[in-house]
Amino acid sequence: MDFNRTVLVTGGSGFIGSHLVCSLVNKYPDWRIINLDILDYCCSPRSLESIEDRANYTFIRGDVCNSRLVNHIFYTENIDVIFHLAAKTHVESSFEFPTSFQRVNVDGTRVLLAAAHQAQHQPQRFIYISTDEVYGPSVDQVFDETSLVRPSNPYSATKAAAEYLVTSYWDKYKFPIIITRSNNIYGPRQYTEKVIPKFLSLLQMKKKCTIQGTLPKSRHFLFVTDAISAFLLLLEKGIVGEIYNVGTSCEIPIMQLARELIKMIKTIPDSEINNWLEFVPDRPQVDLRYPIKCEKLQQLGWRAEVSWIEGIRQTVKWYQDNPDFWSDASEDGTNQKQV
Ligand SMILES: NC(=O)c1ccc[n+]([C@@H]2O[C@H](COP(=O)([O-])OP(=O)(O)OC[C@H]3O[C@@H](n4cnc5c(N)ncnc54)[C@H](O)[C@@H]3O)[C@@H](O)[C@H]2O)c1
Repeated sequence: MDFNRTVLVTGGSGFIGSHLVCSLVNKYPDWRIINLDILDYCCSPRSLESIEDRANYTFIRGDVCNSRLVNHIFYTENIDVIFHLAAKTHVESSFEFPTSFQRVNVDGTRVLLAAAHQAQHQPQRFIYISTDEVYGPSVDQVFDETSLVRPSNPYSATKAAAEYLVTSYWDKYKFPIIITRSNNIYGPRQYTEKVIPKFLSLLQMKKKCTIQGTLPKSRHFLFVTDAISAFLLLLEKGIVGEIYNVGTSCEIPIMQLARELIKMIKTIPDSEINNWLEFVPDRPQVDLRYPIKCEKLQQLGWRAEVSWIEGIRQTVKWYQDNPDFWSDASEDGTNQKQV
């Protein structure tokens, strides 16, 4: 079959990547979707089982830092669009293993950009999925896309460094890049090291939710399908060379999040909720909050469709229906050995 477009998704077996790949494969049967992923510890083959036999889907297991492999992909496939998601993503691990974050997040982006730019068949779009964490923490300031970038942990520093590489290809070659900076994304199939699935897994194992430190941390949470709709809209309507915040006004204090999840899972009276909370030491550097404005994206017609109540209901239900999905996760919700 001849396909109208070939899309390369890196990191397509991870949490957001697998939702993006499924959405592309289902929505665009006339597009060919290639997923390049190393299958790191945070992946499950079950994430893509619904589409793995589709004619318009191809999986390549490999390292985005492997320039021979990446050049070969661009040499043999006429890649029109790249969604670059492959990354090391766990902030806490980034303090312990900064070198591997630097390698995958920065070197991997450099290798991919160079291969895409040198390809004979010129890509129409290179969409880099970055994070609002590049802004660093804020108490009062609401960041827009022109705000200063001040990353405050090794993860966000490598994402920011990769952004500068991506932007340099626009500045120097007018290579058609777009950068997204999104809030915390949540939903089904997220690996258990991230806060919502971590709390849910702890509760499912009859353990307490661990609250790190005593500072009043909060996060803006965006449901994964809303993030995907933003990425697909930006593919069609985003202006090349631009950065787009992708976020929601739904800001949830971490303590409130834990209390809500305890209530949903344990169905206990409010007076017993504290019995399921445990306070543990904080990580070395923690951002209290990073609020962002998304007017630029909203002007293209995007709105978050899934309310917090609906998104968290769907997420909790999925983890209750699939208790063994991440069965190899260790008890505290991380799997440090393979980071
Ligand atoms: N989850 C969030 O809240 C969030 C928010 C904003 C931006 N992002 C960004 O979105 C992207 C995806 O995040 P996620 O939450 O799905 O992360 P994830 O950890 O679930 O997935 C990362 C994927 O990258 C793959 N990968 C890692 N190293 C690789 C390598 N060397 N070569 C090829 N593939 C490799 C992993 O196997 C995995 O499939 C990341 O770039 C992340 O920075 C995530």
